[in-house]
Amino acid sequence: MKIDVFTLFPGWFGWFAEQRHVRNALELGHELEAVDLRATTPLRAGQVDDTPYGGGAGMVLRVDVVEEALRARWGADPVERRGSRRVVALAAGGRPFDDLLASELAGEEELTLLCGRYEGFDERVHEHLATDVVSIGPYVVAGGELAAMVVCDAVLRKLPGALGHSESAVEESFSAALEGAPEYPHYTRPAQWRGHDVPAVLSSGDHARVREWRLEQSRRRAGRP
Ligand SMILES: C[S@@+](CC[C@H](N)C(=O)[O-])C[C@H]1O[C@@H](n2cnc3c(N)ncnc32)[C@H](O)[C@@H]1O
Repeated sequence: MKIDVFTLFPGWFGWFAEQRHVRNALELGHELEAVDLRATTPLRAGQVDDTPYGGGAGMVLRVDVVEEALRARWGADPVERRGSRRVVALAAGGRPFDDLLASELAGEEELTLLCGRYEGFDERVHEHLATDVVSIGPYVVAGGELAAMVVCDAVLRKLPGALGHSESAVEESFSAALEGAPEYPHYTRPAQWRGHDVPAVLSSGDHARVREWRLEQSRRRAGRP
């Protein structure tokens, strides 16, 4: 998989790329590149934003700046190429990011992420350059970089070989293996701690009962009977 992250702060992704599971994925041949939106701006003095039509506080990232960055990267008109690959614009008001979308994106060969800043992107970026507008949650962070890392992290750990144990990503919170429910509780040593004991079933050695207990806990956490 080849992931391009368009950002005004490409330096943020150096640390991210060094993290174990990301490094594993890169060593397996997957690619992650942070592309500087400012490097290809068609405006003078590295300008990338402008004041909003209609007035109001803050600056808006220009559509022509994003267009040029994509054109330079792809060597083609990004509007004409729209739909040939997933281009995800990060925005607080977008489609909520969830495990299903992470799995869907993990199936793509190429993925482009657009990180906003300031007041966000000119709406025409969402409408004519992106294929998806995605939110990591109903709150606002200062820029799309952390949101892009959340998306990359959730997507990359789904790629075979990125995690130490391949089963780790299969049976997790919200996965199909758990019928979309949160994962069951985990315990480790000590078995007794300040009067809070590990549930006896987990040391019973009865794998079927352990499985049943875990699924029941998972369903309970989802508020299911
Ligand atoms: C300060 S925010 C802009 C907030 C915007 N004015 C609003 O009220 O929704 C700057 C950038 O951070 C990113 N961002 C902030 N919160 C986000 C979230 N919950 N999910 C995804 N991206 C987010 C987006 O790329 C956004 O363009």
